[in-house]
Amino acid sequence: MRIYISNSKSESENTFNSHNLDGLTMQREQWGSRFGFIMAAAGSAVGLGNVWKFPYLAGSEGGSAFLIIYIAFMATIGIGLMMAEIAIGRSSQLNPVGAFRKLGGAAWSWAGGLGVLTAIIILSYYSVIGGWTIAYFVDTITGATFGGSAESLGSQFGALVSDTTRPLIYDIIFLGLTLAVVIAGVSAGIEKAVKVLMPLLFLMLIVLVARSVTLDGASAGIDFLMKPKWAEVDMGTVSAALGQAFFSLSLGMGALITYGSYLDKKTNIRSSAAWVCFLDTFVAVLAGFLVLPAVFAFGFDPSAGPGLTFITLPAVFSDMWGGQLFQAFFFFMLFVAAITSSISLVSIPVSYFTEQFRMSRVGATLTVGVIVFLLSIPCSLSLGIWSGHTLFGYGVLDLLSNTVDWYLLPIGGVAVSVLVGWVAYDKIAAELTNQGELPFPMLIVWKWIMRVVAPVAIAWVLIGPLWERLAAAA
Ligand code: PHE
Repeated sequence: MRIYISNSKSESENTFNSHNLDGLTMQREQWGSRFGFIMAAAGSAVGLGNVWKFPYLAGSEGGSAFLIIYIAFMATIGIGLMMAEIAIGRSSQLNPVGAFRKLGGAAWSWAGGLGVLTAIIILSYYSVIGGWTIAYFVDTITGATFGGSAESLGSQFGALVSDTTRPLIYDIIFLGLTLAVVIAGVSAGIEKAVKVLMPLLFLMLIVLVARSVTLDGASAGIDFLMKPKWAEVDMGTVSAALGQAFFSLSLGMGALITYGSYLDKKTNIRSSAAWVCFLDTFVAVLAGFLVLPAVFAFGFDPSAGPGLTFITLPAVFSDMWGGQLFQAFFFFMLFVAAITSSISLVSIPVSYFTEQFRMSRVGATLTVGVIVFLLSIPCSLSLGIWSGHTLFGYGVLDLLSNTVDWYLLPIGGVAVSVLVGWVAYDKIAAELTNQGELPFPMLIVWKWIMRVVAPVAIAWVLIGPLWERLAAAA
């Protein structure tokens, strides 16, 4: 019996990979090119984490000391896990739940299930923030959020996020755009969109950085990023750097397993993973060079936290020649970064629902959309009318985001490293070398990073701050 799982309209145009699962032949969509895959994976990786979170973390966690620790994690555990996840996806040709089960046995399905759940949780707050980027873009064009002091911009930001309906309307727009791309299919939707959006994002970023570093007084910000302040580094910094590396590379929750499952058998996984890690780090560093010099040039506080992007930066743009145009540019770029990540997040539950429950792509995507929207309502309201309701001292949005960063992604990362290092090593090693066709002299290094370094380092970061956090929450 032949079952056609994919119902993309352009089936005949796409390449498919036949594959036998439980006696049924599934037709699987594939990326049209290696470039398309790298742009999609980089689109997943490059997101709010790079442009919004990285600069304020670097700003408050020791400047370039944070950057150095972050790059060290990226170059070892980060890139190793990224190769592992892509290989898991390509080897199994399945969604994360099916992939873990196929490679590790039924006892491993929970790890894939955790990934699907994590994707839905991340989406519920990511889409809210994605909505803010659209709101800011629109308000910059109309002039509603342009100009004024940091105080007045701060109260405008507060008014937006604490509003009951406006953020949710933008949330729907953001989610709707994401769903439309996913419904169109892997190659005809996602790949087509990212091949245009990602190069555009890189271009916009370079223009904005050029503007920022040429401001009078920008050198203080550049110095800040170049001179490490080791005295400010503690266990919290190391833990934040690893958490940020995971979130930024979209690791530990099945995004790259899903994207890897659409990859053809000939592509070199290692060099593709290296490209994605490089692009992700490059964008984070560029975002640092965009935000911090501008902040210093206008005398603002670099450790302003989450408000750095939505309050401090607009204040900087207000004082700048051509500021309104640059600000519109900036929020459009932030929107592009967010939506390409959101597309990858939606793809995870969609691949799970279509494969495990035989749902149609449209039905699965709309189901995910409805679930995520319902969850995003309390997230958004937790910054406004529900701000009085907290659990462990956090509102819903912060609670979910911390749970993801502190627990869910690290647990997913340990599961991946143990699976590929110990349980399915031979299969994954063969996948990384394209069944022995590509040389991989560093295989032994990768193997021991997966077997020992990654699980131990992640467990340490996971458990180390646990008591402090529990004590703070109590
Ligand atoms: N990597 C994205 C960012 O930096 C977030 C993300 C996490 C996307 C996990 C997909 C999966 O914003």
